[in-house]
Amino acid sequence: MAKELIRLSKCSMAFDGDVVLDNIDLCINDKEFLTLLGPSGCGKTTTLRIIGGFLKPASGDVLFDGVRINDVPPHKRAVNTVFQKYALFTHLNVFENIAFGLRLARPGGKKLSKDEIASRVMEMLEVVSLKGFEKRDVSSLSGGQQQRVAIARALVNRPKVLLLDEPLGALDMRLRKDMQNELKQMQQATGITFIYVTHDQEEALAMSDTVVVMENGVIQQIGTPEDIYNEPENAFVADFIGESNIVDGIMLDDGLVEIFGRKFKCLDKGFKPSEPVDVVIRPEDIDIVSPEKGQLTGKVISVTFRGLMYDIIVDFNGFKWLIQTTDLSPIGTTLGIKIDPDGIHIMSKSQFSGMYGDYSSYSAEYDEISDVDYEVEIEDAEGARE
Ligand SMILES: Nc1ncnc2c1ncn2[C@@H]1O[C@H](COP(=O)(O)OP(=O)(O)O)[C@@H](O)[C@H]1O
Ligand SMILES: [Mg+2]
Repeated sequence: MAKELIRLSKCSMAFDGDVVLDNIDLCINDKEFLTLLGPSGCGKTTTLRIIGGFLKPASGDVLFDGVRINDVPPHKRAVNTVFQKYALFTHLNVFENIAFGLRLARPGGKKLSKDEIASRVMEMLEVVSLKGFEKRDVSSLSGGQQQRVAIARALVNRPKVLLLDEPLGALDMRLRKDMQNELKQMQQATGITFIYVTHDQEEALAMSDTVVVMENGVIQQIGTPEDIYNEPENAFVADFIGESNIVDGIMLDDGLVEIFGRKFKCLDKGFKPSEPVDVVIRPEDIDIVSPEKGQLTGKVISVTFRGLMYDIIVDFNGFKWLIQTTDLSPIGTTLGIKIDPDGIHIMSKSQFSGMYGDYSSYSAEYDEISDVDYEVEIEDAEGARE
């Protein structure tokens, strides 16, 4: 059975009167890979720094193995941290960078012998796939290799817990994906509890045992990647994790919801009769059929080729949905759609209702994003010339 290792109990934090963590309750189990996920500024790093001991919560308790550790400084916690900026010692080689922590006099513990240090460092080089690199200058390594050294340095002291704050943020996409797999393997091989921070939902889903979705200093949902994707708690979570069409519905009965005046079968129950709800329909759960056979009919207004499939935007009397399909339906096509009961997910109304899940501005959003990139590139190019 899972054993509790760390608990945050009613933790709050404010900077200059602004509440950035609001009454957080979180339990982290021994040996688990737990990810704090949310947009920039939602409080992920603050939470991590409270666990690491770099910040004290304004109120609430931090427990380790059931013992309150609010006043225990970072170096006395069985916790190490890997930061986004690796902060390696550039004047030391790979071996010495990793050995650094082992050479420090350890309070209460005896110093390790030279042989012990060498064998621990070599073991770590194996774990991070850098065997043979021990004599290399760290400045001669690629970004991915430097990140591996930083991870080895944090793991070599055999902490109970490793805190990782957006550690792959500086790497390109391909390397990021490789490192995600490697980190997951390292975590499983070492049995160390990983608490990982990212704003990248795909990364969180791919790596974690448990995902904690945060927004505005509040935990919105805690669950397995599958729970978070399939059963989002509210419109914020549904929108942040993957693509979602979110529409207003009325719960007619257990297993029956009304959308756009039509009845749809679903699997959800336990709502009040005629309760207004938010309905999530994932773009991949919508089947395209002929207009006569459709539960709804709409018109294709935009098509984007994505390699594996097409993203199409379909207008249903002014409501614009994203549908993913492998069949090409050109702009102007009138089509019908069908949604199986398990493709419909019902959520209670929340403060996020009406804010997300509408694709009216989908293509416009794309234009804005590429415009921004374009401006940045021009600035960079000018900066480079100066
Ligand atoms: N030392 C600080 N002083 C003032 N404001 C801070 C400080 N650290 C963080 N904040 C603010 O707290 C909020 C949460 O920050 P943070 O935990 O770093 O978010 P995240 O890691 O999710 O991007 C942000 O609004 C940030 O500006
Ligand atoms: Mg952060």
